[in-house]
Amino acid sequence: MTPPHAGSRSNGQATSRGSEADGEPTIDVRLDAREWQEARDAEVRRGLSADQPWLSPVWFYDEHGSDLFDEITRLPEYYQTRAERRLLEDHAPELAEHGVVTMVELGSGTSDKTEVILDALVESGRLRTYVPFDVSEATLRQAIDRLRVRYPGLRFHGVVGDFHRHLGAIPEGGPRLVAFLGGTIGNLRPAERKRFLFDLDCALERQDLVLIGIDLVKEPARIVSAYDDSRGVTAAFNRNALTVLDRELHADLDPDDFEHVARWNEDERWIEMRLRARRPVHASVADLDLTIDLRPGEDLLTEISAKFSPEGFAAELWESGFEEVETWVSEGEEFGLVLARPYC
Ligand SMILES: C[S@@+](CC[C@H](N)C(=O)[O-])C[C@H]1O[C@@H](n2cnc3c(N)ncnc32)[C@H](O)[C@@H]1O
Repeated sequence: MTPPHAGSRSNGQATSRGSEADGEPTIDVRLDAREWQEARDAEVRRGLSADQPWLSPVWFYDEHGSDLFDEITRLPEYYQTRAERRLLEDHAPELAEHGVVTMVELGSGTSDKTEVILDALVESGRLRTYVPFDVSEATLRQAIDRLRVRYPGLRFHGVVGDFHRHLGAIPEGGPRLVAFLGGTIGNLRPAERKRFLFDLDCALERQDLVLIGIDLVKEPARIVSAYDDSRGVTAAFNRNALTVLDRELHADLDPDDFEHVARWNEDERWIEMRLRARRPVHASVADLDLTIDLRPGEDLLTEISAKFSPEGFAAELWESGFEEVETWVSEGEEFGLVLARPYC
């Protein structure tokens, strides 16, 4: 996965490529490269200058980071992907009973697990269009190229956009099913999550559905090991954020100066991935004219991943305008899939 600003180019207008009439996929590019870069630069400046410094998870994903993430999903400790896939396999036929005509997937990435849903929806004979929606144009295009071969009769309409700002780009054509998988919702802080769910509710009609994958609260040691595996793949993934930052913004942070830390925050009920300085760090981010100083033992927070209870999440959904239709929980209560619909 390349950082979105590297893959997308735009003149500030939404751009569309391909046309549905000729059977080619359409790609609606909503990300303006300059606007994205300015927002990203401002965010890095804010994060690295904070009393408790942080970095956005967007820095994990260059091509190497994407490969590492793929490896993480296959690790024995990383239960999420397997549990979610299993739930999808068990319940995709029930999803197909809702007469879905358009399937949208937010943060679609490689759209791997999506095939389980698409198989069932295509089989139902109602599905017309699949809409992958991601900030990374390169990843989105690769996914469409693969899926077109597998589903020749399906229309593809990709959206290269930010799900915090571009939900209006979700095309008409209901009933729509909007999937948000991989526990990605847990990467949003509570206020951000609330706004996101509220905006999603505003973008949908009563006949539409959302399907959200949530990682569940469980024994902290089990969660921590999923983010600190014995082979050190997650540690390499975490440190890769610095390599990407160095390359993109001409910074000189040395990943070897940092230790990977996965910490369960009991109060917030989320896991924190951190990079902890092993020695005094004095580094600069040349493109932003910024310096960063850390004492040994000081951390950079790189990701949070909130864990939920099915009841707590159903209550959050209700507050944002959705009523729960079904919640499916995996064996051992590790992961949940929540199907919900706007109640007005
Ligand atoms: C953890 S991955 C999950 C990928 C996939 N859904 C899965 O379940 O394996 C998160 C995905 O969300 C995308 N993403 C992150 N922030 C985004 C945003 N603000 N808008 C759109 N996509 C975003 C990333 O590019 C990445 O593909």
